[in-house]
Parts: sequence; structure tokens; C-alpha cells
Amino acid sequence: MRNTDFINRSLAAVWHPCTQMKAHETLPLVPIARGEGAWLYDFDGKRYLDAVSSWWVNLFGHANPRINAALKTQLDQLEHVMLAGFTHQPVVELSERLAALTGLGHAFYGSDGASATEIALKMSFHYWRNTGQPEKTGFISLQNSYHGETVGALSVTDVALFKDTYVPLLRQSTQVPSPDWRLAEPGESQEAYALRCAEALEKHLQQHGATTAALIVEPLVQGAAGMAMYHPVYLQRARQLCDQYRIHLIADEIAVGFGRTGTMFACEQAAVRPDFMCLSKGITGGYLPLSAVLTTDGVYAAFYADQTARGFLHSHSYTGNALACRAALATLDIFATDDVLGRNREKAAQMNELLAPVMTHPKVRDFRHLGMIWAFEVETDLPQFARDFYQAALGQGLLLRPIGNTVYFMPPYVLEREEMQWLAEGTLKLLGD
Ligand SMILES: Cc1ncc(COP(=O)(O)O)c(C=O)c1O
Repeated sequence: MRNTDFINRSLAAVWHPCTQMKAHETLPLVPIARGEGAWLYDFDGKRYLDAVSSWWVNLFGHANPRINAALKTQLDQLEHVMLAGFTHQPVVELSERLAALTGLGHAFYGSDGASATEIALKMSFHYWRNTGQPEKTGFISLQNSYHGETVGALSVTDVALFKDTYVPLLRQSTQVPSPDWRLAEPGESQEAYALRCAEALEKHLQQHGATTAALIVEPLVQGAAGMAMYHPVYLQRARQLCDQYRIHLIADEIAVGFGRTGTMFACEQAAVRPDFMCLSKGITGGYLPLSAVLTTDGVYAAFYADQTARGFLHSHSYTGNALACRAALATLDIFATDDVLGRNREKAAQMNELLAPVMTHPKVRDFRHLGMIWAFEVETDLPQFARDFYQAALGQGLLLRPIGNTVYFMPPYVLEREEMQWLAEGTLKLLGD
């Protein structure tokens, strides 16, 4: 089998996500035959360094032997059973371990990230109804936020390209200024700017707090906004304001959870506990679709009643899938035994050293780094910069998917020094003179 066999069949049979399919008349699809560690291999034997962790999901490499082994064992025991009326070992163990890690329990499962957003929004709304405050129906998110593409999640997403077409279908929500430090005034510190944004949030709540159910945020890094990073003081102020105005704080840790920002969960850097935490992507090490929403005892208690309709009746067929939970447990085992966060600090220091020439490149602006995320803007006049850069990067054996003019790296945590060097040198070549 060669690449061409799959390219044509895929274009005829598969409707690819986040893609204007006509673009593939000139932009070749990349058929992947197998993966190993940080690398993906096509059918013609060319390899690509997966510097974006396959849409930010992969943590410990493709075909990770430990996750593979756990899944093979699970496969012979139980692949799936519905979670209404039934339970199983992987889902119980995973829920216990997530509660111990986050201080939030009562794990409610979905499949993808967007379904976790939907669950958190619905739970928050329903909580206020169950507690006699049905007027609290509004949602607030940050400008340039991204929380998924289903109708509810898109309502709190603020990316025009994904949202504008569907506005007539969506529920109104409010966007407050993003603490993204690139938007600070010249001379204004990241912290001062974050506090100024928190003041804007406060002004909104002074007027609308009584009718607001929840504020949803991507803690510390707004991924789809181009890895926009912000000072943790914003989360601290947001937590205080949510308490003051009796509003839920939903932390969408779908992209930033599981060590991505340097701590297991990004909220830890602000010492903040949200009312809801949405998890997905890295939860299974990038193996299988799984999401979870964790919440407080107080929220859970508001649904616990004699009347069926006061319960949270939301469901998906694959809720709490046993294989996905097993992959998640194997992922948590690696965190527990391998000092992943400590090793990542060492890897990040090496990566920063290797990226020094990129950081100081004359076309590079606003270079930023947090945990295992690096990003910068490229000064360019090319109208199709993202597409051209992506294609040129593939030519060099690098999988990079710029967002607008933002180039970012979000590699699997298994990257070794030579691979980091490959990435840094390849990027420098792509930037040119
Ligand atoms: C912060 C955040 N929330 C939600 C989502 C949606 O997740 P999914 O694509 O799995 O639906 C994403 C996906 O990129 C995300 O980055």
C-alpha cells in the first residue's frame, strides 16, 4: 500500500474535520500507517515528528507499550457496558483517582471535550433550578475562548470562523475581556493587565450576576486563541468574584489538564478549586475518546432527590467506556511512577535552550512558554501563512499546525533531546532569514 491509495479513497469517503474539503485539491492529505513515540509514519515510509500531539491529546507517545498492554488486558475482560444501572472496575478506579487528584468528585463521563462542556453547562443551569434560582441561566466566557463545536459549547466559544455561521442556532452568552497578556498596554505588566480584565468581569457581574449561572474559562492558556497565556491572578480574582456573586466557575482543562502547563491541572497554579472541571484529550494519553466533568459535593447533593427529573438525566451510549477508562488509568499510572512533571521541567529547560535562536529570530514576536507549550507569532505578509507553513513543515518531517500567524509546539512528553533539536532546527529553517 502506498500513500496515493489512501489519499484518493479518503477524499472520496471521509469528510474530514475542520477542513474546507476543496483545499485538498492542492493540499495533500497525509495517510498515516503507524505511530511510534513522537513519530508518525506514512505509507511511503516518511516520518513526521508530531509536535502538536495529534490535536493536543497525546502525552506519552504513539503506541506506548504500557498503555497498549493495559488495553490488551482490558480487551479480554470487558470492552464496554452501559453505565446506567451498571458499573465496572475501570470506571470506579478512574473516578476515585480523579477525585483524589482534583479534590472534586462525582465524575460524570462523556466522550469528547465538547460533550464535557455541554455537561458542565447543563449541570450548572440545572443546579440553579434545583436550588430555587431558575433566573440564573446566563453564561460568561472569555473573548477568543474555545470550548468545543457542539451547539451548547459553541455558544460559549468565541472564534468567529467556527461560530458566525451558526449564530442563529446558538444561545446568547457574554464574552468578557481576555487576560491574554499580548493584549496588555505597552508597559503594563501581565499581572496588572489580568487584574484590569478581572475588573471588567466584576463590572459585568455587578449588573448581571443575579441572572448568571456560570463563568467558563480555559485556565492559564487559551489554546485555540493561539496559545494565549495569562497570569494566574486572573483565576484567583475570578474565583473570588464567582463566590461573591454566587456563580459557578467552570474550568475547562480539556487542553491544559494532565501536566500540559507544568502542574497536573492548570488551576493548581492559582491555588483555585473550580465548581466544575472538564477533562478530556490527554486523559487517555491520546488513545480513546473520553471526557469527564468533576464537581463538588454541594452540586451533586442538589440533584440527589426523590423526583427523577431533579436528577441529571444526560447520557451518551459510550459514557464511561471501559477501554477508554483503562487507557486513562494506564496514563495516570505513568504519572504516578515516572515523575512526569519533574522530567517535563528538565525537558522544557532543554527545549528553551535549543529554541534560543528561534526566540531571537527577527520574524518572531511574543515568544512564550508554559510547561510543555511553546508559542510565538511570525511576522509575515503571506495571506495563507498557516497553510504554507504547515505544508513546508511536513516537507521537513514536522507536524506543525499554526493558528493564524501563531506557530506553537505542544509535543508529547516523550520527546528526547535529539527530537527537540530536530524540531528547533527544522523550525529555524522554516522561518528562513
Ligand atoms: C479548551 C478546549 N475545550 C474544549 C475542546 C473541545 O474538545 P473536543 O475537540 O474533544 O470536542 C477543545 C478542543 O480543542 C479545547 O481546546
